[in-house]
Amino acid sequence: MGKNEGMTHLAPRLPLPGGSEIPTIGAGTWPLNDREVTAMCLSAFEVGYRLIDTAENYGNETGVGKAVRESGLPREEIFVTTKFNRRWHDDSVSGVEHNLARLGLDYVDLVLIHWPNPDQDLYVRAWDGLVRARDRGLVRAIGTSNFKPAHIDRIMAATGVTPEVNQIQCNPFADRAEERAYHATYGIVTESWAPLAAGNGLIGNPVVQQVASAHGVTPAQAVLAWHLQQGMVPIPKSSNPGRLAENFGALGVRLEDAEIEALTELTNPDYRLSDSDAFGH
Ligand SMILES: NC(=O)c1ccc[n+]([C@@H]2O[C@H](COP(=O)([O-])OP(=O)(O)OC[C@H]3O[C@@H](n4cnc5c(N)ncnc54)[C@H](OP(=O)(O)O)[C@@H]3O)[C@@H](O)[C@H]2O)c1
Repeated sequence: MGKNEGMTHLAPRLPLPGGSEIPTIGAGTWPLNDREVTAMCLSAFEVGYRLIDTAENYGNETGVGKAVRESGLPREEIFVTTKFNRRWHDDSVSGVEHNLARLGLDYVDLVLIHWPNPDQDLYVRAWDGLVRARDRGLVRAIGTSNFKPAHIDRIMAATGVTPEVNQIQCNPFADRAEERAYHATYGIVTESWAPLAAGNGLIGNPVVQQVASAHGVTPAQAVLAWHLQQGMVPIPKSSNPGRLAENFGALGVRLEDAEIEALTELTNPDYRLSDSDAFGH
């Protein structure tokens, strides 16, 4: 029997500036409740996922922590990402302590400021607190979510500390090329939320279907390969074990450059992007 036979195949990891490593694909958890998320995470771990994306706002951190403990996996093998709400921007260390209490964990792998909420103008303070939370060992890596380059410029200028990750809405309908180029300049990893733009017709798009059938893969796998090959970390959500496995299978897909370009050209002006200057939890 071969050495690796029977062992779960895991995703490769990308190095983060602070010294930890993030798996290249993860499982999203919105809008699952605690019970649903525990079941989903346990299925995801079986498939090979090790990155789970949750948030205070999703109301399911307790269920995620339960799955981490019930999985039987070594804690250091699992990469938990969470986020805190706007109410913690003036005291984000306490925000992180509340994340940890709900998760029942003694550290989180990655904490993100969920939205900049410029209306309350406290995101620089929130970032400063996250830096201290990392120094105290409450969190291994720190980042932002839904931050525009101008927001990131401001936190870097104020603190001298660059986010390790910025999680943004990104898929072939809105490829966010400018933001991704900005991230690349500073070594910030782009994490893609709504990677499948699900419910918006991307999976059924004829170009996506054509690229997928040329490789004998599913449309979702073709779209996720588009993210992976460009260095983004997609976090597709599925509560269906078959689709969880299907999505993870994108790691084995290799698209041609022209196919990546064809998917990028699907830019859809009708696809709604959340504007983080106007919206945020
Ligand atoms: N930072 C932020 O502000 C922010 C905002 C939104 C979301 N997020 C995070 O990003 C994660 C992903 O985003 P999202 O859930 O909005 O969008 P998504 O992952 O693009 O799409 C999820 C939807 O696609 C369906 N789906 C999954 N795999 C599929 C497949 N292989 N074929 C066909 N349909 C499939 C799912 O249904 P089934 O479950 O039935 O498979 C679900 O309805 C969230 O769960 C959350 O963790 C972050």
